[in-house]
Amino acid sequence: MEKELIYGIIGCGSFGNIHMTALKDVEGIKVTALCDAHIENAEEANKKYKYNAKCYSDFNVMLDENKFDVVLVATADHVHKDATVKALKSGANVLCEKPMALKLEECKEMLQAEKESGKLLMVGQICRYTPAFVKAKEIIEGGLIGDLYFVESEYAHDYSMIPGTDNWRMHPDRHPIIGGGCHAIDLLRWIAGNPSEVTAYSNNKVLTDWPISDTTIAIMKFPNGVIGKVFTSIGCKRNYTMRSVFYGTKGTIICDNTSQSLTLHMEKSSQHGSFADGFFGTGSERNIPHPIAVGVNNHNAQAEHMAMKEAILEGKPLLTTGREGANTVAVCVAVVESAKKGLPVEVDYNF
Ligand SMILES: NC(=O)c1ccc[n+]([C@@H]2O[C@H](COP(=O)([O-])OP(=O)(O)OC[C@H]3O[C@@H](n4cnc5c(N)ncnc54)[C@H](O)[C@@H]3O)[C@@H](O)[C@H]2O)c1
Repeated sequence: MEKELIYGIIGCGSFGNIHMTALKDVEGIKVTALCDAHIENAEEANKKYKYNAKCYSDFNVMLDENKFDVVLVATADHVHKDATVKALKSGANVLCEKPMALKLEECKEMLQAEKESGKLLMVGQICRYTPAFVKAKEIIEGGLIGDLYFVESEYAHDYSMIPGTDNWRMHPDRHPIIGGGCHAIDLLRWIAGNPSEVTAYSNNKVLTDWPISDTTIAIMKFPNGVIGKVFTSIGCKRNYTMRSVFYGTKGTIICDNTSQSLTLHMEKSSQHGSFADGFFGTGSERNIPHPIAVGVNNHNAQAEHMAMKEAILEGKPLLTTGREGANTVAVCVAVVESAKKGLPVEVDYNF
């Protein structure tokens, strides 16, 4: 029989609950302890998911009193570092929610703890499990759209009614480009590699009572001369989206994480045309859009837990490692610095 993985969960708020719902569909998982600073959240989840787990309000006590194969850290972002380091030191593998941390020094400490513990650290950069983005990457790697030259992604999410428990999303250290924009940045890094330099601008015109810029635009230099753009808005008055476009020399992919298809635009033929015969009239005669059906699963937490399980039990490599999470934070931090200085900033990956 397959080994059962013993889980402890720290943070039983809304995303903790997304994970707990996803875990119902992963075989061989047993949740034995739950922790939340508001212990009633842990107790409520314990009842809802029928865990019969021990409930704690302090993760230090939970980690001192129990042994886990996996600890899920789904707390407010500023708690990720302390909870992850303690969990790794206690001998558990850790799935830590994104962003890995709000500061590079914290990421460094987490990577050190991972190294010293010999355990696995996975960061919840969940877009790498979103069906549309997985398909887009597959098409790009298959060479169908030729060589990439421009990539863009956005994180547009109205946070006005979701400041988080005790308003943690409103903390000045929780710059939206780190907290939410990390999804778009991680997606572009996964597709196009590590950007070397960023230039960014931010403003605060919508959530004017929040002490942080609600909107940021960043342009970036990627390897092989590819250029890119990331837009983040947490005040936008529109439905949530991560609309992303990947431009290649032979085609273009337009996709997002909430639609049932992506669109692949390919050249119709290599014949030359003219404006007179309408060849370039709308562009649609020249470049044909092909819709490709994809599943909609913008929070594919089940795939994350499956990946963690396969890594522990079968030694399969993790896709969203601690190092990957840290590199994404490195880009986010450079974007914040550039927006502050009004100057281009080189991304520091040497930590
Ligand atoms: N992967 C994604 O797409 C995605 C989506 C939403 C949120 N998140 C991430 O998930 C995490 C949780 O977000 P949320 O939306 O559930 O927020 P939330 O406010 O609903 O839940 C956070 C929970 O953490 C608890 N908490 C805070 N400090 C704690 C501590 N020291 N010890 C134990 N518990 C503590 C709070 O009481 C709360 O119940 C964040 O890191 C967020 O960035 C990820």
